[in-house]
Amino acid sequence: MRIDILTIHPELLKSPFEHSILQRAIDKKIVEIRLHDIRTYSTDKHKKVDDYQFGGGAGMVMCIQPIADCIDQLKSERNYDAVVYMTPDGERLDQSIANHYSTFENIIILCGHYKGVDQRIRDHYITHELSIGDFVLTGGELAAALFCDSIIRLIPGVISDETSALTDSFQDNLLAPPVYTRPAEYNNWKVPEILLSGNFPKIEEWRHEKAIERTKKRRPDLLDS
Ligand code: ADE
Repeated sequence: MRIDILTIHPELLKSPFEHSILQRAIDKKIVEIRLHDIRTYSTDKHKKVDDYQFGGGAGMVMCIQPIADCIDQLKSERNYDAVVYMTPDGERLDQSIANHYSTFENIIILCGHYKGVDQRIRDHYITHELSIGDFVLTGGELAAALFCDSIIRLIPGVISDETSALTDSFQDNLLAPPVYTRPAEYNNWKVPEILLSGNFPKIEEWRHEKAIERTKKRRPDLLDS
């Protein structure tokens, strides 16, 4: 998978891909991340990327030209499965959306700022709009990093134990059950006996029960859907 991210703050997006599982996915060439500084595409002599809103109102709007030129350039080089705009008024990201995107070959992600981007970019270039939740961030970069993390970890070969991504919370509309590791007793707090029993069918049954119990308590809405 190749992901091209358009941003006015490329530095903000370096670190998330330089550690742990995402770094390893890049090293293994399972995924390639390209950061594009929108400002470098601006034809304005001051490299301006935003301007006042037509009709008045507070807040600047990101201009069409540098974004359009960057996307046109990328699209002339390869086909893209999606051109995603990260925005609080987009469709709410969830596990099923992450599963869907994890099968794509090439994705462009546009990070918004200020009051957002000129609507004509959304009308003519963007194929999907995604929000990471009902709150507003200072820009789309952290949302883009989070979205990339959620999809990259699902690509086969990224997480070494393939079953582990399948047993995540939300994969069956259930939250994950509690997990424990050594020591079996700490401060008199004991690990549930069943997990030490070696009876794997019973352990699976216990985990499923706990997953349902936890979901009922914390996210009953998931059980309705
Ligand atoms: N940009 C600002 N806030 C955002 C959010 N909640 N989701 C996606 N992109 C955003």
